[in-house]
Amino acid sequence: LDDPTADPFEVATQAANDIARLTGVERHDVALTLGSGWGRSAELIGDEIAAFPATEVTGFSAPALEGHVGTIRSIRTPKGRSVLIMGARTHYYEGHGVRRVVHSVRTAAATGARIMVLTNGAGGIKPTWKPGQPVLISDHINLTGDSPLEGATFIDLTDLYSMRLRDLARQIDPSLDEGVYCQFQGPQYETPAEVRMAKTIGGHIVGMSTALEAIAARQAGMEILGFSLITNMAAGIQTTPLSHQEVIEAGREAEPVISSLLARVIGAL
Ligand code: 6GU
Repeated sequence: LDDPTADPFEVATQAANDIARLTGVERHDVALTLGSGWGRSAELIGDEIAAFPATEVTGFSAPALEGHVGTIRSIRTPKGRSVLIMGARTHYYEGHGVRRVVHSVRTAAATGARIMVLTNGAGGIKPTWKPGQPVLISDHINLTGDSPLEGATFIDLTDLYSMRLRDLARQIDPSLDEGVYCQFQGPQYETPAEVRMAKTIGGHIVGMSTALEAIAARQAGMEILGFSLITNMAAGIQTTPLSHQEVIEAGREAEPVISSLLARVIGAL
């Protein structure tokens, strides 16, 4: 993927072939990327068919961050759907380029998955939100200044975060609120002024992932469902300093509730 002359879609096809070989599953129906706090959802979704380190699959580098499990799992739901769980996320701020960031999404698409569920841990801007609360992503603002699309690829991003899937999630949990996700480059958290900017331009959630992945998923023709776990309030909304430790702890505490929510939503797909 670091070779600019390589075709990233060919690398994704190779990766999908690796996954078919490692899982014995020819096609997956749904793919799920687990962000901070969402890591233990797998066991509730169904029976594990296979699990292996992402590093065994073409194009995946070693995980960089605590709280991000570098394991790929194949799970069979009670309804008989195959779910591919990507426990490995490469963040844009790691500096390995957008191709690496969206490789798991392109690989998921190449395994046959038509639905991409993207989850993350993020900062909240809406003052009524509490740390530990999951929210649906209704749309995004990509503030990275970058794109997974190369060249003149003019794709439409209307209803990027599928209304159908959001409605389905709200049938499982009617209390789910939703908001616009702003992807910042990171890895530093935003300044209070940047958070005010995000609010002014229509954002409700600030994070460091997901938007670039959603664009790649749309390019691949997938239907997208996005969840943010609000791990903390964004800078200036909360008065105490932000810390990575706080983010990890909020994720750990919310885990039972959000894992069960995610499992029920995926079971209903
Ligand atoms: Cl406040 N900002 C960003 N960009 N990412 C986060 C966060 C805040 N809290 C958790 N992840």
